[in-house]
Amino acid sequence: MYQGLLEKYKELLPVTDKTPMISLYEGNTPLIPLTNLSKELGIELYGKYEGLNPTGSFKDRGMVMAVAKAKEEGAKAIICASTGNTSAAAAAYATRAGLKAYIVIPDGKIALGKLAQAVMYGADIISIQGNFDQALKAVRKLAETEAVTLVNSVNPYRIEGQKTAAFEVCEDLGKAPDVLAIPVGNAGNITAYWKGFKEWNELNQTGLPRMHGYEAEGAAAIVQGKVIESPETIATAIRIGNPASWELAENARDESKGKIDSVTDDEIINAYRKVAAMDGVFIEPGSAASLAGVIKDIKSGAITKGETVVCVFTGNGLKDPDTALEVTEIPISKMDDLEDMKKHLQAGVGKL
Ligand code: F0G
Repeated sequence: MYQGLLEKYKELLPVTDKTPMISLYEGNTPLIPLTNLSKELGIELYGKYEGLNPTGSFKDRGMVMAVAKAKEEGAKAIICASTGNTSAAAAAYATRAGLKAYIVIPDGKIALGKLAQAVMYGADIISIQGNFDQALKAVRKLAETEAVTLVNSVNPYRIEGQKTAAFEVCEDLGKAPDVLAIPVGNAGNITAYWKGFKEWNELNQTGLPRMHGYEAEGAAAIVQGKVIESPETIATAIRIGNPASWELAENARDESKGKIDSVTDDEIINAYRKVAAMDGVFIEPGSAASLAGVIKDIKSGAITKGETVVCVFTGNGLKDPDTALEVTEIPISKMDDLEDMKKHLQAGVGKL
């Protein structure tokens, strides 16, 4: 029976005899063939649906490892800055491990579902007027002097846990895809996937993908080559102007002969709606940056017809119902009479 990531990949992770084997049965997420989009786009497209992790995002992979190591090393508490998903995962795994979780979030800029999770898992929530980058600066300072272990992706155990997603992609496809398309915020995940693909290839000769990372245009520090002081995007998950793993992301791009590009909020929203409406996969706006980038790259020729492309769908759409309802006309017809309902159905599909 599947027992979670630490157990499954213990030989490839920094797991020792002393590591507590905590788990919420994270990982093992489906690689969903996006058959309708594949037809429209002329490629073989898959979604690595990380929204099906226990707290609804890929962060569970890194957090199970980071929290287990913090516990192993005798920590009493963990701390992180977050745009919402890291804090939800930190809070859940801290609870499992019997640690206290402090989370620092940008006031009013995290999706409602993510905040609800932190509240329910029992985190100590600190809200700042500043943005994610300022929150990260604060927690890095606090972790130097206070009795708390930092679990942002600057903690190397986070990257170790997150690299397992690349293992799963290779196991499912039997090889690496031609292109791995991924949203970029703080740039930890693109770093982790690249590490995972390289390690898996060493062991299993599965080849390497071109890494295509996509930032939101209003927060595209790596693309513009400069820190963005006031990042803005509808995709609050990746509203980050000074990515901590900047250089590592550039390494992944260069070593893999890939690219890091930006996508506009309109492109993000278009992709966000399209994958739900065409292939039945509801992802959060930040996650849709991967698909938005793929659509852009097919137009420009950076991805060619027939290629195998995996989009990392980092978080579940249910995290952010507000955005879903804001960007869509809500097609609800009000009626109570059965005859009216019959007429409505017949207008749609005809008579039996
Ligand atoms: N997608 C989602 C849904 C995210 O929550 C994040 C990051 C990313 C993509 C980008 O990943 O930072 O490794 O490049 N969320 C962090 C958080 C910042 O606090 O939850 P990255």
